[in-house]
Amino acid sequence: MSPLTLRGTTFRNRVWLAPMCQYSAGPDGVPTDWHLAHLGARAVGGFGLVMAEATAVVPEGRISPHDVGLWDDAQVAAWRPITAFVRGRGAVAGVQLAHAGRKASTYRGFGEGSGTVPVDDGGWATVGPSAEAFAGYAAPQELTAAQVADVPRQFAAATRRALDAGFDVVEVHAAHGYLLHQFLSPLSNHRTDAYGGPLEARARLLLDTVDAVREVLPEDRPLLVRVSATDWTEGGLTVEDVARVAAWLREHGVDLVDVSTGGNVHATIPVGPGYQVPAAGQIRATAGVATAAVGLITTAEQAEQVLAEGAADAVMIGRPALFDPSWPLRAAHALDDKTPALDHLGDPGATVRPGEPTGWPVQYARGSWG
Ligand SMILES: Cc1cc2nc3c(=O)[nH]c(=O)nc-3n(C[C@H](O)[C@H](O)[C@H](O)COP(=O)(O)O)c2cc1C
Repeated sequence: MSPLTLRGTTFRNRVWLAPMCQYSAGPDGVPTDWHLAHLGARAVGGFGLVMAEATAVVPEGRISPHDVGLWDDAQVAAWRPITAFVRGRGAVAGVQLAHAGRKASTYRGFGEGSGTVPVDDGGWATVGPSAEAFAGYAAPQELTAAQVADVPRQFAAATRRALDAGFDVVEVHAAHGYLLHQFLSPLSNHRTDAYGGPLEARARLLLDTVDAVREVLPEDRPLLVRVSATDWTEGGLTVEDVARVAAWLREHGVDLVDVSTGGNVHATIPVGPGYQVPAAGQIRATAGVATAAVGLITTAEQAEQVLAEGAADAVMIGRPALFDPSWPLRAAHALDDKTPALDHLGDPGATVRPGEPTGWPVQYARGSWG
C-alpha cells in the first residue's frame, strides 16, 4: 500500500489494474458507460493505477471492431468523464496505446466467431512487419518503410489526445504479439531494411515510437511500456534480449517496464502462480529500470512478496479484478495494512470513512469489515 512516485506522478499504492479489453466500444471506437462503470468501480476499489485497455491509435490497429480508440476528437470527449471519475477517486488514470498489426480485425470472443473478421463482416485488411500470418489469422500486408516511419507519429498523436482526454499516464503496448512486438521478434520480423535484422534494428520502431511519445508528454509525466519478455519459443525473443531492450527504453525516457510474456506465436507456456514474476525481476535487476509484474498474482500475500523480494515496483492485477473490483481494499484488509494510502483525493468527506485507513468509501461503509 506504500505510494510510488515516477517523475511528477504519485501512485497512492502499488496495486494496479492491468489493461483489459472489454470489447464494448460504441461505434467508431468510442468508450461507453460500460467503461465508466468498469474503470470507475476499480478506482473506488482502491487501485493505485487504473489502466484502460488496449486503445487503438488508428482504426486498423484495433484488435476487434469493438475496441476503443484515441484517433479522433469524439473519442477524446467520451473518455473525459471516465478519467475525471477515476482521478476524482484518487487513482492515477492510465491508458494503454496500441496497434494490433497482423493480430487486428479479429472476433472479440463473445461467441460470434473466431479468427479474422472478414471485410464484409466489418473487418479490415491487416498490416505487419512481414507478410506472414499469425497462425489461424489472415495474412497481413507488409508495411512499406514509409508506412513504418509513420507509426511513431500515430502513437504521438494518440498521446496528445490521451492528455487532452485527462489521462495522467500512457503505456505503449509492445507485448502479446501486437505490432511493436511483431517488429521486435525474429519470429515475425523478416525485413531486410533498417527495421529488420539484429535486435537493435528490430527495436528501432519501438524506440522511435517511445521517442515520439516522450516528445509529446510533459517532462513530469511518466511513460510505461508493456513488453513480452519471452516468446517461449526456440529462436524467439529471450528474457536476455528483452532486458537489453528494456535498458534502451530506460535510456529513451521510459520510467517503468510492465513485464508480460508471449502472444506472438502459438507456444506452450508454463502457466502457474506468478509465472512471469522472475522475468520482471531479471529485467529490473539487469536493465536498472522500474518494473511491474503481472500474471496469476491472485493473493495479497503473493503480491506483497513480489514487492518485498524486489522483483517489481508494482503488481498488476487482471482477472482477479474482473470478479472483485475492490481487490486492493481486500488485500489491504487481509494484510492488516493500515497505511492511509487509499485516500480518495479531493473528496475525503464523501469517500473515506473517518478512522477507516483502508479507504473504504463512506457510501459502502455498512458493507466494510468491522
Ligand atoms: C479480458 C482480458 C482482456 C485483456 N486485454 C488486455 C489488453 O488490452 N492489453 C494487455 O496488455 N493485456 C490484456 N490482457 C492481459 C492482462 O492485462 C494480464 O496481463 C493477464 O490477464 C495476466 O494477468 P492476470 O493473471 O492477473 O489476469 C487481457 C486479459 C484479459 C483476461
